Amino acid sequence: MDRRMIGVIGLGLMGQSIAIACASAGYRVILSDSAEGRVFDFISRHPEFEEALVEAKSLADFASCSIVVEAVVEQLQVKLDLLRALETAAPSTTLASNSSTFMPSELAVGLVDRSRLLVCHFFNPADTVPLVEIVPSPDSDPIRIAQVEHFTRSIGKHPVLLRHEVEGFVANRLQAAVLRECYALVERGIATPETVDEVVRLSLAPRWAANGPIATADLGGLDIFVALCDRLFPRLDRSTQAQQLLRRKVHDGRLGAKSGAGLYDWPEEHREAAVRRLTEFFRFGAERERGALRLHAIAEEAR
Ligand SMILES: NC(=O)c1ccc[n+]([C@@H]2O[C@H](COP(=O)([O-])OP(=O)(O)OC[C@H]3O[C@@H](n4cnc5c(N)ncnc54)[C@H](O)[C@@H]3O)[C@@H](O)[C@H]2O)c1
Repeated sequence: MDRRMIGVIGLGLMGQSIAIACASAGYRVILSDSAEGRVFDFISRHPEFEEALVEAKSLADFASCSIVVEAVVEQLQVKLDLLRALETAAPSTTLASNSSTFMPSELAVGLVDRSRLLVCHFFNPADTVPLVEIVPSPDSDPIRIAQVEHFTRSIGKHPVLLRHEVEGFVANRLQAAVLRECYALVERGIATPETVDEVVRLSLAPRWAANGPIATADLGGLDIFVALCDRLFPRLDRSTQAQQLLRRKVHDGRLGAKSGAGLYDWPEEHREAAVRRLTEFFRFGAERERGALRLHAIAEEAR
């Protein structure tokens, strides 16, 4: 087994950006996808990583990888079948699933050795967004958890380790809570999608980006937030499934930017501009952090 070899199975939206993140950090990346020609096309589009990206001939090729990131479709049976086959084909490799909804204990049910599996949840696009949620099951081996933490740091990511598994982990639970209210406000005609996004972009999001929601509330004063929670919690949307607004869009084929329209219309130049804004936002954040660290080091030196 080679520590500098990582496997990525499933080369869709997520698998591609995970593979790029690994190759950019100097890993050799073994790839596979069930769709004919997808790995070949992907490698052809990235001549800069010609040396680093390698198509697997069979699952046995993943035996040489220290970690395999599973990024296939979010269907439990597909993942279970793949992970079971991989456990045998790659007998000592760590199995890291990028699932966004299944808990590691659900994914490990078919394995003989459940200690080998954990969730390593990247965010789209994985070569840009720094956070990775690492979610162990009660059976996950602490050595493998540390190995995956170390691997994510080595590709420039910021791993956070959850203490216990829970559906949706942390990020998707928060995202679901906020989106439930966003869609309800639009569905009730209280605000347009543009207004909701404007409110978040120009108030909540920058404050949360700077300090996080819990620290933001601390800064505001917890007496205020007790009053706010007491008054608003009973009045918030309590839908237990996606709202009709969302279902109608999906029914009409308006799946978001990937189909050209969602709640907004997405001509290609708008989609590109949105991706560019996101990339620049993270690049600026990273530069600012490096700058702050440099200033801190200079100040320390001057003491
Ligand atoms: N899309 C996101 O924003 C996002 C974010 C974080 C995590 N995730 C998770 O990442 C995983 C992949 O999501 P995605 O959005 O990249 O999906 P996707 O549909 O874009 O890609 C899935 C890929 O898996 C391949 N595949 C399906 N079955 C396979 C098999 N048995 N063996 C090999 N390849 C197979 C498909 O051909 C496809 O290329 C899912 O578990 C998803 O929940 C997605």
